[in-house]
Amino acid sequence: MVKIVVVGSYIVDLMSRTPHMPKPGETVLGGPFQMGPGGKGGNQAVAAARQGAQVTMVTKVGNDLFGEDAIRNFKQESIQTTYITKDEKEATGAALIAVDQHSENMIVVSLGACGKLTKEDVQQASEAFREADMILVQLETSIEAIQATIELANELTKPVVLNPAPYQKVDAATLSKVTFITPNETEASLLTGISVHDEKTAQAAAIKLYNAGISNVIITLGKKGCYVYDGNNQGRLIEGFAIDAVDSTGAGDAFNGGFSTFIASGMSIDEAVRKANAVAALSVTKVGTSVAMPTNEEVETFLETGF
Ligand code: RIB
Ligand code: NA
Repeated sequence: MVKIVVVGSYIVDLMSRTPHMPKPGETVLGGPFQMGPGGKGGNQAVAAARQGAQVTMVTKVGNDLFGEDAIRNFKQESIQTTYITKDEKEATGAALIAVDQHSENMIVVSLGACGKLTKEDVQQASEAFREADMILVQLETSIEAIQATIELANELTKPVVLNPAPYQKVDAATLSKVTFITPNETEASLLTGISVHDEKTAQAAAIKLYNAGISNVIITLGKKGCYVYDGNNQGRLIEGFAIDAVDSTGAGDAFNGGFSTFIASGMSIDEAVRKANAVAALSVTKVGTSVAMPTNEEVETFLETGF
């Protein structure tokens, strides 16, 4: 079993379906409401655990009911919760999510407690880092915790996947220390200043990130799949799977949790991306974020039969 440490956010997702996205000042009568565990860190931890990884989660929750829920949910997924700390002042993070008719989403996320994760919170998990095969981190927590994660991983010579979502500025020295980076088109554009919208622009951005010291660049291009550049080979597009989407929220998280697990288990980058594309595709067939992550069995069946 591969061991993965995820450092990042836990957020309670408050989701409503809407016939269309509201304009400023507009009230829209929405469809069904659903509440569930989320946050890019939490979703990626669940995605990895359901693909068979032994996951340790490092995050911070509030001293409230949502925080207790978080721990219960992680335990249910067999995720190690020893290093989840509580903030006495801040509430557990919450996100307002609207999903429209086309399964597209809009999210406003208030990080609350998980935005207060400190360097010390990360360092106290050093035992788990030492045992890990892979460290997975996003940009949905404090920059201090993100930097501490990447530094600790480097000290212990552990590979790191950085999913730079949502975009925040990270200094160049820290960026150069990550092993894999997985931006989407928007994040790749913000990271490089190159407007990424197709294979050619993805290639230019990937080369720029590679030259900045990141040896494996994977730019996710939604339905088109992923552009991979790792210096050894020519850059290449690895196609995604066409599937009827119900709710695309958390698809990036499904991809990252899956990708980290597959790479840690020794797969080649192309194989890991292809399989992670399948994890993402299946996640969009269900409503919700963490709860929509497929199991490894579902992914295997999908790859064999297309269903
Ligand atoms: O990537 C999806 C996640 O982003 C949601 O679960 C929400 O919590 C936001 O953080
Ligand atoms: Na989903």
